[in-house]
Amino acid sequence: MKSTSIITTITAVLANSGLADAHCYIWGVFVNGVDQGTFRGIRTPAYNGAPPSGYANSPVKDLDSIDLRCNVLGDKQNSYTIQVEPGDNLTFDWHHDKRTATDDVIASSHHGPALVYISPDPPTEDSFVKIWEEGLYELGTAPFAPGKWATTEDIAANHGHMNVRIPAGLKPGHYLIRAEMIGLHEADVSYEKNPMRGAQFYPNCVQIEVVGNGTVELPSGVSFPGAYKYSDPGVVYDVYCSTKTKPTVPCTSSLVGTYPIPGPTVWSGAWPDTTAVELGPVSGETTVARWSSWVQRSVVTSATFDGNQAKVVTTSVYTATWSSVYQTPAPSPV
Ligand SMILES: *[C@@H]1O[C@H](CO)[C@@H](O)[C@H](O)[C@H]1NC(C)=O
Ligand SMILES: *[C@@H]1O[C@H](CO)[C@@H](O)[C@H](O)[C@H]1NC(C)=O
Repeated sequence: MKSTSIITTITAVLANSGLADAHCYIWGVFVNGVDQGTFRGIRTPAYNGAPPSGYANSPVKDLDSIDLRCNVLGDKQNSYTIQVEPGDNLTFDWHHDKRTATDDVIASSHHGPALVYISPDPPTEDSFVKIWEEGLYELGTAPFAPGKWATTEDIAANHGHMNVRIPAGLKPGHYLIRAEMIGLHEADVSYEKNPMRGAQFYPNCVQIEVVGNGTVELPSGVSFPGAYKYSDPGVVYDVYCSTKTKPTVPCTSSLVGTYPIPGPTVWSGAWPDTTAVELGPVSGETTVARWSSWVQRSVVTSATFDGNQAKVVTTSVYTATWSSVYQTPAPSPV
Protein backbone atom coordinates (compact mmCIF):
# COMPACT_ATOMS: atom_id res chain seq x y z
CA MET A 1 0.00 0.00 0.00
CA LYS A 2 2.83 2.33 0.93
CA SER A 3 4.48 2.02 -2.47
CA THR A 4 1.21 2.51 -4.25
CA SER A 5 0.98 5.92 -2.65
CA ILE A 6 4.52 6.70 -3.81
CA ILE A 7 3.56 6.13 -7.42
CA THR A 8 0.42 8.21 -6.92
CA THR A 9 2.49 11.05 -5.53
CA ILE A 10 4.95 10.96 -8.41
CA THR A 11 2.23 11.07 -11.01
CA ALA A 12 0.30 13.75 -9.14
CA VAL A 13 3.33 16.05 -9.09
CA LEU A 14 3.91 15.54 -12.79
CA ALA A 15 0.24 16.09 -13.52
CA ASN A 16 0.39 19.48 -11.87
CA SER A 17 3.52 20.58 -13.67
CA GLY A 18 1.90 19.40 -16.89
CA LEU A 19 -0.81 22.02 -16.50
CA ALA A 20 1.69 24.72 -17.37
CA ASP A 21 2.13 25.59 -21.04
CA ALA A 22 4.54 22.81 -21.72
CA HIS A 23 3.32 21.60 -25.06
CA CYS A 24 4.71 21.44 -28.52
CA TYR A 25 3.94 21.78 -32.18
CA ILE A 26 5.86 22.06 -35.45
CA TRP A 27 7.39 25.48 -36.11
CA GLY A 28 9.22 24.72 -39.35
CA VAL A 29 10.06 22.06 -41.92
CA PHE A 30 13.53 21.57 -43.42
CA VAL A 31 13.69 19.86 -46.83
CA ASN A 32 17.15 18.34 -47.37
CA GLY A 33 18.40 20.70 -44.66
CA VAL A 34 16.82 23.85 -46.14
CA ASP A 35 14.27 25.55 -43.93
CA GLN A 36 10.98 26.30 -45.68
CA GLY A 37 10.17 29.11 -43.24
CA THR A 38 8.55 29.37 -39.83
CA PHE A 39 4.95 28.04 -39.89
CA ARG A 40 4.97 27.72 -43.72
CA GLY A 41 3.01 24.70 -44.92
CA ILE A 42 2.03 23.77 -41.36
CA ARG A 43 -1.51 23.62 -39.98
CA THR A 44 -0.63 25.19 -36.67
CA PRO A 45 -2.96 23.85 -33.98
CA ALA A 46 -5.12 25.98 -31.79
CA TYR A 47 -4.89 25.67 -28.08
CA ASN A 48 -7.88 23.67 -26.91
CA GLY A 49 -8.16 24.90 -23.39
CA ALA A 50 -8.90 28.35 -22.08
CA PRO A 51 -6.13 30.69 -20.82
CA PRO A 52 -4.02 31.30 -18.68
CA SER A 53 -1.83 29.44 -21.12
CA GLY A 54 -0.55 30.62 -24.44
CA TYR A 55 1.84 29.89 -27.31
CA ALA A 56 0.96 26.28 -27.45
CA ASN A 57 -1.70 23.70 -27.99
CA SER A 58 -3.12 21.50 -25.34
CA PRO A 59 -3.19 17.81 -26.07
CA VAL A 60 -6.02 15.98 -27.76
CA LYS A 61 -7.15 13.18 -25.45
CA ASP A 62 -10.51 12.12 -26.89
CA LEU A 63 -9.76 9.30 -29.34
CA ASP A 64 -13.09 9.79 -31.12
CA SER A 65 -12.57 13.48 -31.78
CA ILE A 66 -11.90 14.80 -35.30
CA ASP A 67 -9.12 16.80 -33.59
CA LEU A 68 -7.09 13.61 -33.40
CA ARG A 69 -6.61 13.88 -37.18
CA CYS A 70 -4.60 17.09 -37.44
CA ASN A 71 -5.20 18.69 -34.03
CA VAL A 72 -7.66 21.48 -33.21
CA LEU A 73 -8.47 23.56 -36.33
CA GLY A 74 -6.50 20.97 -38.33
CA ASP A 75 -8.95 21.27 -41.20
CA LYS A 76 -7.82 24.87 -41.71
CA GLN A 77 -5.38 25.01 -44.60
CA ASN A 78 -2.07 26.80 -44.55
CA SER A 79 -1.70 29.12 -47.53
CA TYR A 80 1.62 27.48 -48.49
CA THR A 81 2.37 23.94 -49.63
CA ILE A 82 5.87 22.46 -49.39
CA GLN A 83 7.17 20.84 -52.60
CA VAL A 84 9.17 17.66 -52.21
CA GLU A 85 10.47 14.78 -54.29
CA PRO A 86 10.56 11.09 -53.39
CA GLY A 87 13.71 10.45 -51.37
CA ASP A 88 13.85 13.95 -49.90
CA ASN A 89 14.86 14.16 -46.26
CA LEU A 90 12.44 16.16 -44.14
CA THR A 91 13.16 17.46 -40.67
CA PHE A 92 10.22 18.68 -38.60
CA ASP A 93 11.25 21.34 -36.12
CA TRP A 94 9.11 20.83 -32.99
CA HIS A 95 9.14 23.55 -30.39
CA HIS A 96 7.30 24.82 -27.39
CA ASP A 97 7.59 28.61 -27.09
CA LYS A 98 10.50 29.62 -29.28
CA ARG A 99 12.30 28.25 -32.31
CA THR A 100 15.76 28.22 -30.86
CA ALA A 101 18.25 25.72 -29.48
CA THR A 102 17.46 26.75 -25.89
CA ASP A 103 13.74 25.94 -26.16
CA ASP A 104 12.66 22.97 -24.02
CA VAL A 105 10.64 21.48 -26.96
CA ILE A 106 8.39 19.37 -24.72
CA ALA A 107 8.06 19.10 -20.94
CA SER A 108 10.63 16.68 -19.57
CA SER A 109 7.87 14.59 -17.98
CA HIS A 110 6.10 13.94 -21.32
CA HIS A 111 7.69 10.57 -22.11
CA GLY A 112 6.17 8.77 -25.05
CA PRO A 113 6.42 7.66 -28.65
CA ALA A 114 6.76 9.79 -31.78
CA LEU A 115 5.11 8.77 -35.05
CA VAL A 116 4.74 9.95 -38.65
CA TYR A 117 1.92 9.11 -41.05
CA ILE A 118 1.25 10.21 -44.63
CA SER A 119 -2.12 10.46 -46.38
CA PRO A 120 -3.39 11.82 -49.65
CA ASP A 121 -4.85 15.31 -49.08
CA PRO A 122 -7.69 15.32 -48.17
CA PRO A 123 -7.66 12.19 -46.04
CA THR A 124 -10.32 9.57 -46.68
CA GLU A 125 -11.35 6.40 -44.87
CA ASP A 126 -8.21 4.38 -43.98
CA SER A 127 -5.86 6.73 -45.82
CA PHE A 128 -3.16 7.37 -43.18
CA VAL A 129 -0.08 5.20 -43.69
CA LYS A 130 2.59 5.01 -41.02
CA ILE A 131 6.10 5.79 -42.30
CA TRP A 132 8.09 6.18 -39.09
CA GLU A 133 7.83 5.49 -35.37
CA GLU A 134 9.96 5.41 -32.28
CA GLY A 135 8.90 4.52 -28.74
CA LEU A 136 10.76 3.30 -25.66
CA TYR A 137 14.28 2.57 -26.82
CA GLU A 138 16.20 2.12 -23.59
CA LEU A 139 14.94 0.71 -20.32
CA GLY A 140 15.28 2.56 -17.07
CA THR A 141 17.65 1.09 -14.53
CA ALA A 142 16.10 2.25 -11.26
CA PRO A 143 12.65 1.53 -9.84
CA PHE A 144 10.09 3.85 -11.44
CA ALA A 145 12.65 5.20 -13.92
CA PRO A 146 10.74 5.76 -17.14
CA GLY A 147 13.62 4.81 -19.45
CA LYS A 148 14.44 6.60 -22.68
CA TRP A 149 11.61 7.65 -24.94
CA ALA A 150 11.34 9.23 -28.38
CA THR A 151 9.68 12.48 -27.24
CA THR A 152 11.84 13.42 -24.28
CA GLU A 153 15.19 11.78 -25.00
CA ASP A 154 15.48 11.70 -28.77
CA ILE A 155 13.47 14.60 -30.17
CA ALA A 156 13.74 17.05 -27.28
CA ALA A 157 17.44 16.24 -26.86
CA ASN A 158 17.94 16.88 -30.58
CA HIS A 159 16.42 20.37 -30.37
CA GLY A 160 13.00 19.22 -31.60
CA HIS A 161 14.23 17.61 -34.81
CA MET A 162 12.13 14.72 -36.12
CA ASN A 163 13.40 13.13 -39.32
CA VAL A 164 11.46 11.37 -42.03
CA ARG A 165 12.11 10.59 -45.68
CA ILE A 166 9.58 10.85 -48.52
CA PRO A 167 8.92 7.28 -49.71
CA ALA A 168 10.84 6.19 -52.81
CA GLY A 169 8.90 6.48 -56.06
CA LEU A 170 5.85 8.05 -54.40
CA LYS A 171 3.32 9.17 -56.96
CA PRO A 172 3.02 12.94 -57.48
CA GLY A 173 0.15 14.67 -55.74
CA HIS A 174 -0.95 16.53 -52.66
CA TYR A 175 -0.42 14.80 -49.35
CA LEU A 176 -0.71 15.58 -45.66
CA ILE A 177 1.99 14.40 -43.33
CA ARG A 178 0.63 13.77 -39.86
CA ALA A 179 3.49 13.93 -37.37
CA GLU A 180 2.71 13.13 -33.77
CA MET A 181 4.16 13.18 -30.29
CA ILE A 182 2.35 11.29 -27.54
CA GLY A 183 2.82 12.10 -23.84
CA LEU A 184 2.22 9.07 -21.64
CA HIS A 185 2.94 10.68 -18.26
CA GLU A 186 -0.76 10.42 -17.27
CA ALA A 187 -1.57 7.39 -19.41
CA ASP A 188 -1.76 4.86 -16.60
CA VAL A 189 -5.53 5.29 -16.95
CA SER A 190 -7.60 6.04 -20.06
CA TYR A 191 -9.20 9.41 -20.74
CA GLU A 192 -12.45 7.48 -21.14
CA LYS A 193 -12.26 6.32 -17.51
CA ASN A 194 -10.78 9.53 -16.11
CA PRO A 195 -10.98 12.66 -18.31
CA MET A 196 -8.54 14.42 -15.97
CA ARG A 197 -5.86 11.97 -17.11
CA GLY A 198 -5.14 9.78 -20.11
CA ALA A 199 -2.57 9.76 -22.92
CA GLN A 200 -1.89 13.18 -24.49
CA PHE A 201 -1.77 13.31 -28.29
CA TYR A 202 0.02 16.11 -30.13
CA PRO A 203 -0.68 15.55 -33.83
CA ASN A 204 0.35 18.22 -36.33
CA CYS A 205 -0.17 18.18 -40.10
CA VAL A 206 2.09 19.49 -42.87
CA GLN A 207 0.89 20.11 -46.42
CA ILE A 208 3.21 18.74 -49.11
CA GLU A 209 3.09 18.33 -52.85
CA VAL A 210 5.13 15.45 -54.18
CA VAL A 211 6.54 16.17 -57.62
CA GLY A 212 8.55 13.95 -59.95
CA ASN A 213 7.73 10.82 -61.90
CA GLY A 214 6.95 8.35 -59.16
CA THR A 215 4.31 5.69 -59.63
CA VAL A 216 4.03 4.21 -56.13
CA GLU A 217 0.58 4.51 -54.60
CA LEU A 218 0.06 4.45 -50.86
CA PRO A 219 -1.53 1.25 -49.56
CA SER A 220 -4.67 1.30 -47.45
CA GLY A 221 -3.93 2.64 -43.98
CA VAL A 222 -5.88 3.81 -40.96
CA SER A 223 -8.34 6.59 -40.16
CA PHE A 224 -8.02 9.46 -37.72
CA PRO A 225 -10.08 9.34 -35.62
CA GLY A 226 -10.39 5.57 -35.52
CA ALA A 227 -6.85 4.25 -35.50
CA TYR A 228 -6.38 4.35 -31.74
CA LYS A 229 -8.55 2.68 -29.09
CA TYR A 230 -8.69 3.01 -25.31
CA SER A 231 -8.08 -0.73 -25.21
CA ASP A 232 -4.72 -0.37 -27.03
CA PRO A 233 -1.89 -1.38 -24.68
CA GLY A 234 0.17 1.54 -26.04
CA VAL A 235 -2.57 4.07 -25.21
CA VAL A 236 -3.10 3.03 -21.59
CA TYR A 237 0.42 2.43 -20.31
CA ASP A 238 2.29 3.25 -17.14
CA VAL A 239 5.65 4.79 -18.08
CA TYR A 240 6.85 4.23 -14.53
CA CYS A 241 6.50 0.52 -15.14
CA SER A 242 8.84 0.52 -18.10
CA THR A 243 11.83 -0.39 -16.02
CA LYS A 244 13.29 -3.86 -15.86
CA THR A 245 14.11 -3.27 -12.21
CA LYS A 246 11.14 -4.43 -10.23
CA PRO A 247 9.60 -1.67 -8.13
CA THR A 248 8.70 -2.44 -4.53
CA VAL A 249 5.16 -3.09 -5.65
CA PRO A 250 5.29 -4.95 -8.96
CA CYS A 251 3.62 -3.23 -11.88
CA THR A 252 0.45 -5.03 -12.80
CA SER A 253 1.10 -4.63 -16.51
CA SER A 254 2.37 -7.62 -18.39
CA LEU A 255 4.25 -5.16 -20.57
CA VAL A 256 7.06 -4.25 -18.18
CA GLY A 257 10.16 -3.67 -20.29
CA THR A 258 8.35 -3.32 -23.61
CA TYR A 259 6.14 -0.70 -25.18
CA PRO A 260 3.78 -1.41 -28.07
CA ILE A 261 3.54 1.78 -30.16
CA PRO A 262 -0.09 2.56 -31.08
CA GLY A 263 -1.39 2.26 -34.62
CA PRO A 264 -0.47 -0.05 -37.48
CA THR A 265 3.01 -1.27 -38.37
CA VAL A 266 5.26 0.94 -40.46
CA TRP A 267 4.58 0.51 -44.20
CA SER A 268 7.17 -1.61 -45.99
CA GLY A 269 7.47 1.13 -48.63
CA ALA A 270 8.82 3.59 -46.06
CA TRP A 271 12.58 4.07 -45.69
CA PRO A 272 14.00 1.65 -43.14
CA ASP A 273 16.21 4.36 -41.67
CA THR A 274 15.70 8.04 -41.20
CA THR A 275 18.82 10.07 -41.39
CA ALA A 276 19.53 13.29 -39.57
CA VAL A 277 20.73 15.63 -42.31
CA GLU A 278 22.80 18.72 -41.72
CA LEU A 279 20.48 21.70 -41.29
CA GLY A 280 20.93 25.20 -42.67
CA PRO A 281 19.79 28.33 -40.85
CA VAL A 282 16.23 28.92 -39.69
CA SER A 283 14.33 31.15 -42.08
CA GLY A 284 11.71 33.34 -40.43
CA GLU A 285 10.54 34.16 -36.96
CA THR A 286 11.97 32.33 -33.97
CA THR A 287 9.46 33.74 -31.49
CA VAL A 288 5.76 34.43 -31.66
CA ALA A 289 3.50 36.79 -29.76
CA ARG A 290 1.82 34.84 -27.01
CA TRP A 291 -1.55 33.68 -28.31
CA SER A 292 -4.29 31.26 -27.54
CA SER A 293 -7.29 29.95 -29.44
CA TRP A 294 -9.56 27.56 -27.70
CA VAL A 295 -12.64 25.67 -28.61
CA GLN A 296 -15.51 25.16 -26.23
CA ARG A 297 -18.93 23.92 -27.32
CA SER A 298 -18.06 24.62 -30.97
CA VAL A 299 -17.07 28.20 -30.28
CA VAL A 300 -13.51 29.14 -31.10
CA THR A 301 -12.10 32.03 -29.15
CA SER A 302 -8.77 33.65 -29.92
CA ALA A 303 -6.89 35.80 -27.51
CA THR A 304 -3.65 37.67 -27.24
CA PHE A 305 -1.85 38.25 -23.98
CA ASP A 306 -0.90 41.32 -22.03
CA GLY A 307 1.34 39.80 -19.41
CA ASN A 308 -0.83 37.00 -18.04
CA GLN A 309 -4.03 38.79 -18.98
CA ALA A 310 -5.79 37.25 -21.99
CA LYS A 311 -7.45 39.72 -24.36
CA VAL A 312 -10.09 38.08 -26.54
CA VAL A 313 -9.76 39.15 -30.18
CA THR A 314 -12.28 36.98 -32.02
CA THR A 315 -15.03 34.53 -31.18
CA SER A 316 -16.74 32.44 -33.83
CA VAL A 317 -18.69 29.24 -34.18
CA TYR A 318 -16.44 26.40 -35.25
CA THR A 319 -17.19 23.05 -36.80
CA ALA A 320 -14.35 21.13 -38.42
CA THR A 321 -15.12 20.79 -42.12
CA TRP A 322 -12.99 18.42 -44.11
CA SER A 323 -13.57 18.63 -47.84
CA SER A 324 -13.74 15.33 -49.70
CA VAL A 325 -11.81 16.76 -52.66
CA TYR A 326 -8.51 18.60 -52.75
CA GLN A 327 -8.86 22.35 -52.31
CA THR A 328 -6.17 24.77 -53.40
CA PRO A 329 -5.29 26.82 -50.32
CA ALA A 330 -6.29 30.45 -50.44
CA PRO A 331 -3.30 32.80 -50.58
CA SER A 332 -2.38 34.36 -47.26
CA PRO A 333 -3.77 37.84 -46.66
CA VAL A 334 -1.17 40.58 -47.11
C1 LIG B 1 18.70 11.78 -47.78
O1 LIG B 1 19.59 11.21 -46.84
C2 LIG B 1 20.24 10.03 -47.31
C3 LIG B 1 21.03 9.45 -46.16
O2 LIG B 1 21.95 10.40 -45.67
C4 LIG B 1 21.12 10.40 -48.51
O3 LIG B 1 21.74 9.24 -49.00
C5 LIG B 1 20.23 11.00 -49.58
O4 LIG B 1 21.02 11.43 -50.68
C6 LIG B 1 19.45 12.18 -49.04
N1 LIG B 1 18.51 12.62 -50.05
C7 LIG B 1 18.57 13.81 -50.62
C8 LIG B 1 17.55 14.10 -51.66
O5 LIG B 1 19.41 14.64 -50.31
C1 LIG C 1 10.68 13.12 -64.80
O1 LIG C 1 10.86 12.56 -66.08
C2 LIG C 1 11.30 13.48 -67.04
C3 LIG C 1 11.25 12.81 -68.41
O2 LIG C 1 11.87 11.56 -68.34
C4 LIG C 1 12.69 13.98 -66.68
O3 LIG C 1 13.14 14.94 -67.60
C5 LIG C 1 12.64 14.61 -65.30
O4 LIG C 1 13.95 14.95 -64.88
C6 LIG C 1 12.03 13.66 -64.28
N1 LIG C 1 11.82 14.37 -63.04
C7 LIG C 1 12.23 13.91 -61.89
C8 LIG C 1 11.96 14.80 -60.72
O5 LIG C 1 12.78 12.86 -61.75
